[in-house]
Amino acid sequence: MNIKVENLNKQYTKKNSVDVKILKNINLEIKSGQKVVLIGPSGVGKSTLIHILGLMDRPTSGKVYIDGIDCFDKDDKYLRVIRRNYIGFVFQFHYLMPDFTVLENILIPVWKNKELKLKQAQGILNKAGLLHRQAHYPSELSGGEQQRVAIARALINNPRVIFADEPTGNLDRRTGLEIENLLFDVSTNTGAALVLVTHDEDLVKKAYRVIKIIDGCIL
Ligand SMILES: Nc1ncnc2c1ncn2[C@@H]1O[C@H](COP(=O)(O)OP(=O)(O)OP(=O)(O)O)[C@@H](O)[C@H]1O
Ligand SMILES: [Mg+2]
Repeated sequence: MNIKVENLNKQYTKKNSVDVKILKNINLEIKSGQKVVLIGPSGVGKSTLIHILGLMDRPTSGKVYIDGIDCFDKDDKYLRVIRRNYIGFVFQFHYLMPDFTVLENILIPVWKNKELKLKQAQGILNKAGLLHRQAHYPSELSGGEQQRVAIARALINNPRVIFADEPTGNLDRRTGLEIENLLFDVSTNTGAALVLVTHDEDLVKKAYRVIKIIDGCIL
């Protein structure tokens, strides 16, 4: 899946307040299977950008083409279908459902076909090293384990691109590295593109493609 961004702008406008320009004329292309690390100081718009690329938010102006299709030309229902079929998203805070077990949480994106997807969900959990915890509730897991479940949930629809927004932000370094390695392995093994927001300088040094955002622009 090829993602192409043209002249993307995002600003917030509020009555009786100044406009806040977050993203300014972003141009960018992410080719299928690419691993991209997105860095930049707090508040520059990293989350805003990947929420737009993940079709969860609309830009103020500009285009996002997925395999040549102008996405924001379409209605929300269309965006939902693309999201459900092609995109996996891992949030900074995992947003697991507290009243669902680990296994059920992973099946949420495919709930209508949950029986059909059961074996696959357990396979993903196994790779994440958590199969033996499938019947547990999120509150019974550590922060790193919860984040691994959130990654498993992002993979259940076999996404062609995975967005991860500082998935290791609130974890210790070692656990954080494990999570990041898991994401990179998944990308390598499935061929899905990966766009990872991080503050980790080591990842940056590993010379994956790095995109730096400063003052709303790509450096
Ligand atoms: N609804 C809103 N109205 C006004 N400003 C907003 C709104 N939502 C977000 N912002 C602003 O947009 C800017 C970019 O936010 P964003 O969450 O994308 O930053 P970030 O680069 O992900 O930062 P961090 O590293 O802290 O997660 C921030 O200055 C934020 O205050
Ligand atoms: Mg953010």
